[in-house]
Amino acid sequence: MIRELKAQLLTNGLSVPDTSNLPTIFVITPTYARPNQLAELNRLRNVLLHIPQVWWLLVEDREEKSELVKNFLTHSGVPHTHLHQPTPPEWKVKDKSPRWTKPRGVLQRNAALDWLRKNADPHLPAVVYFADDDNSYSIELFQEVFAEWHLIGTRASSRSLFFITVVSRCHRCLTMRWTSQVSVWPVGLVGGVMVERPLCLCRQGVEPDQARPMVTGWLVGWKPERPFPTDMAGFAVNLRLLLDNPDASFSLESEIGFMETDFLSRIVTKEELEPKAECCTKNTHSRYIHHLAVVLVWHMNAVNPNLKDEVRLRQLGRQTDIGIDV
Ligand code: UGA
Ligand code: MN
Repeated sequence: MIRELKAQLLTNGLSVPDTSNLPTIFVITPTYARPNQLAELNRLRNVLLHIPQVWWLLVEDREEKSELVKNFLTHSGVPHTHLHQPTPPEWKVKDKSPRWTKPRGVLQRNAALDWLRKNADPHLPAVVYFADDDNSYSIELFQEVFAEWHLIGTRASSRSLFFITVVSRCHRCLTMRWTSQVSVWPVGLVGGVMVERPLCLCRQGVEPDQARPMVTGWLVGWKPERPFPTDMAGFAVNLRLLLDNPDASFSLESEIGFMETDFLSRIVTKEELEPKAECCTKNTHSRYIHHLAVVLVWHMNAVNPNLKDEVRLRQLGRQTDIGIDV
């Protein structure tokens, strides 16, 4: 299908960028069965479908893979690997307890890291991102869409070549795909504040390649004493770093709220962090990228759907979802 579309574009004198040599983005997503699981997974899938060179590692928190997720992935159109790793019952959040009483998604993320260490090509330029299934992700978090439109929609001309050069330079600056070690960015609606964010030092008026933006501190409300006070959604790691540090993994024993910090402390220092999204909007190329929102990912928690009539119908043997994936 995509090959056909590319051929049609070429016939009309339009070229499609070759994305095969871009670094791969491995997206690791823990997921568990609940009424809105498929709704959440579809929202993430719809974003990933826009992203070239992406590989989705979807890890079910279950004894075995479910047919529901298997069917979903098979028809998703996103290159993927389907894994499963159950959380032992004693580490599961009890029904009536608040969700933060137990860490979530820990063993599932570790299972995906194990898979990468066994299966990923160590020579492949790649970055790893932990994307929970319930957040809101913008396409620009992964990919500079403006560049894509431009490359796809414009015939080559000296003006567009200039434009491509500028935007591709910003690529390196803006998106997680160009992470040398660990990149960080703001996350909206998390930790009791509108946005938790790294504070950055950016030198104005210099080429992004020459002036590396630095993280000088963080602006957060909750537990600001954490060495890396970021949510899981706020960072990406170069695959190489994870292969070089085979013990880097998430721990069930981390103090509440310290899971990200404990993981990052093993692989990176504050000085090495590469800020994205925020700093780069202030550099000399800002007139090309000012349309980008500063916040590119939002931490969300779904309200449980009202299923009171489903419960009643179930008692009458008339549940609504027999024979249909919901
Ligand atoms: C916050 C962070 O955003 C998470 O990345 C972090 O794992 C979590 O805190 C924590 O400290 O454990 P929050 O929104 O409260 O997350 O957590 P959930 O969205 O409920 O769970 C995070 C991920 O784990 C989701 O992808 C979810 O599908 C998965 N999960 C949750 C499981 O695989 N099994 C579960 O029993 C619960
Ligand atoms: Mn969540």
